Amino acid sequence: MSRRDIDLEQLSSNVVVPVADEQERRVEVSLRPSTLRDFVGQGELVRHLEIVLGAAKSRGQVADHLLFAGPPGLGKTSLASIVAAEMGSGLRITSGPVLSRPGDLAALLTDLQDGDVLFIDEIHRLSRAVEEVLYPAMEDRRLDVMIGRGPSARSIRLDLPNFTLVGATTRTGLVAAPLRDRFGFVGQLDLYDPDELTIIVSRSASLLNVELSGDAAAIIAGRSRGTPRIANRLLRRVRDVAAVHELGVVDGAVAVMALELFGVDEYGLDKIDRRILGLLCDQFAAQPVGLTTLAHACGEESSTIEDAYEPFLLREGLLIRTPRGRVATERAYAHLGLRPRGGGLV
Ligand SMILES: Nc1ncnc2c1ncn2[C@@H]1O[C@H](COP(=O)(O)OP(=O)(O)OP(=O)(O)O)[C@@H](O)[C@H]1O
Ligand SMILES: [Mg+2]
Repeated sequence: MSRRDIDLEQLSSNVVVPVADEQERRVEVSLRPSTLRDFVGQGELVRHLEIVLGAAKSRGQVADHLLFAGPPGLGKTSLASIVAAEMGSGLRITSGPVLSRPGDLAALLTDLQDGDVLFIDEIHRLSRAVEEVLYPAMEDRRLDVMIGRGPSARSIRLDLPNFTLVGATTRTGLVAAPLRDRFGFVGQLDLYDPDELTIIVSRSASLLNVELSGDAAAIIAGRSRGTPRIANRLLRRVRDVAAVHELGVVDGAVAVMALELFGVDEYGLDKIDRRILGLLCDQFAAQPVGLTTLAHACGEESSTIEDAYEPFLLREGLLIRTPRGRVATERAYAHLGLRPRGGGLV
């Protein structure tokens, strides 16, 4: 690989955004843990899942319906395929927006094999009409199909094979209560701690044949915003830089140099995060700033600021939301090496 093959500007854009595009999702498949044993972290959830799956297996039954909830990139899709693998079942994958009509879901359900796992990603985006088909399918494994129109219309009942529905959502609050109540188990995924991410980075490095030495894995993990997807992405970027410099081994110094090249600092903030904080601390002179104004000044969509950047800045105590707008905290000033000009400082 030569320097020319790597477009740094393109590679460094959105390097810390937790959401993945289609291409990245394809690359991720090879790094996905395939058994519960390989799945790092989320200790309590994994223990509960072992019990739920183990009990179903020992009874010779399919597992209860399972819902995984949590921010993007934390392992919901990985868990869905692990459930199928652990149960020795087939896996069918679809998503809320794809199932636009009740017939789409009916076709999928009637095509299931006994014991299959049906994974519905973004389940909070199912339409009401599709949800209505799902309820009896989840509860009684039956499908009510209307035949004909007008006065001669009648409903026939089809029995479905035994299946486990696995749903995933980034927005638990948007899953309708009747749907949520039909899941036997709801697992909430939380951001990972740096030690867990270090294990994930080391495991991915060995799968990608990247030789990491010293504290390189911990450095990458520490800048990954608690998110395995970002950890793996940063690892791939570091690997690219090492390749350009023809370095066989990535040590701590190479990792820092590479991450700095991509604009990722020791907190895991990138240039957009720093632009947000810079605007709040400096240009807007510590006055509260509304989301739209902030997004406009950053040249980003409001939804990108709100969904991809703000949660981490809030969690790290670098920014707070007040009724009058966003305000940077003292920690943000310290991080940027700025001194507050007074007023609005938290
Ligand atoms: N606990 C984990 N151990 C090891 N790797 C993990 C773990 N969780 C996630 N990953 C890695 O992170 C990547 C993203 O995970 P996954 O696609 O399962 O996240 P997701 O929660 O489904 O995200 P989204 O909400 O965007 O669909 C996977 O390719 C996988 O390699
Ligand atoms: Mg997913």
